[in-house]
Amino acid sequence: MRVNMMQFDVLITNTNIATMSDAFGYAKKTPYGAIHDGALGIKDGKIAFVGTEDELGVADAHKIIDAKQSWLTPALIDCHTHLVYGGNRSDEFEMRLNGMDYQEIAKQGGGILSTVQATRQSSIDELYKLSLPRFKSLMKEGVGTIEIKSGYGLNLDGERKMLQVAKKLGDDFGISVKKTYLALHALPSEYMAKADEYVNQACNWLKVLHDENLVDAVDAFCESIAFDKNQVSQLFDVAKSLGLPVKLHAEQMSDMGGAGLVAEFNGLSADHIEYLSTDSIIKMAKHDTVGVLLPTAFYTLKETKLPPIDTMRQYGIKMAVSTDCNPGTSPSTSLLLAMNMACTLFGLTPEEALAGTTIHASKALGLQNSKGQIALGMDADVALWDIDRPADLSYLIGQNHLQGLWVAGKAVMYFAQ
Ligand code: NIG
Ligand code: FE
Repeated sequence: MRVNMMQFDVLITNTNIATMSDAFGYAKKTPYGAIHDGALGIKDGKIAFVGTEDELGVADAHKIIDAKQSWLTPALIDCHTHLVYGGNRSDEFEMRLNGMDYQEIAKQGGGILSTVQATRQSSIDELYKLSLPRFKSLMKEGVGTIEIKSGYGLNLDGERKMLQVAKKLGDDFGISVKKTYLALHALPSEYMAKADEYVNQACNWLKVLHDENLVDAVDAFCESIAFDKNQVSQLFDVAKSLGLPVKLHAEQMSDMGGAGLVAEFNGLSADHIEYLSTDSIIKMAKHDTVGVLLPTAFYTLKETKLPPIDTMRQYGIKMAVSTDCNPGTSPSTSLLLAMNMACTLFGLTPEEALAGTTIHASKALGLQNSKGQIALGMDADVALWDIDRPADLSYLIGQNHLQGLWVAGKAVMYFAQ
């Protein structure tokens, strides 16, 4: 029995909670770290109580919500997106369905470079307007943290513009946004046959944009149609000297050993990883680098090589799941669909898929100490769902049962029942 009455800003009662937290047995195989007939108290933007209603005792709050047995999860985290861009690539969708492949289109100046042209031509306001519906559609699915990459500017102004739009979207909607610098995404045409010069420039721009507080992490595309390991290492050395974490588009179309490289830089994540080798998995395990699965890109490219899920499980690699929202390989703004596809196409369990968009996605962004699980002292980033069990989030296709989303304790969205 508690003697003092607990006072919260928000108190959610009569709820079930998929905490995804070791504090509630997640690691010890309590499915979803679940609490039934629970309550959640929020104070000063943090989780101040989580437990059963019996444990709560007498409590009061400025706002009390009877969840009527709905489920709370950590607010979802989309840890890999390119959602800020100009233009549209449905023409390439048609070309692919007429028999041309993604790499062929890229070599002919389409692909990433066609989005670069459209993005460079867009003003910052236009880019914001174009990106807004994509951003909002993630929010409407309970996503409280979104990583947004640059990579369609490929010059200082263009990369800056994209990162500024990313920042503004987060600020305007109270969503936590992580900004990732991806100038090594493709070689812009003005640097054709001068790749090393471009890499030097990209390293210089990184220093400038870091000084402007526009960079939280550094990414690159390591692939035969993009940059090799030496070029990526050069950029990662600069990132390291600035104290910035790194991540990598690795092993999407071939095994370049990029996942092993990013692990050796103590990188946050290796993303795509369909062609991931066991050698690289061993390096990822050693450095606790997260494997980010992007099933919508796999689906769009009609890839047939599956990421080595069983071997990753065997080595204890944490797996995240993300939309990869981009105009080429993943024109999707549904993280719930990505969870479904991670289960159906890659064989993840619904519990692994939810871990992939919560606790493991937070680690892919270096946010594991504040986000991605429901536990005392964590940021009060939670989503409320009108579902029977957490597996419904992965099971249902094209259905969205979100009832509310709080980020740092603030209601970003709440549909009163
Ligand atoms: O994650 N692989 C590289 N980058 C994106 C595709 C970008 C594009 O086609 O515009 C991806 O798949
Ligand atoms: Fe990507």
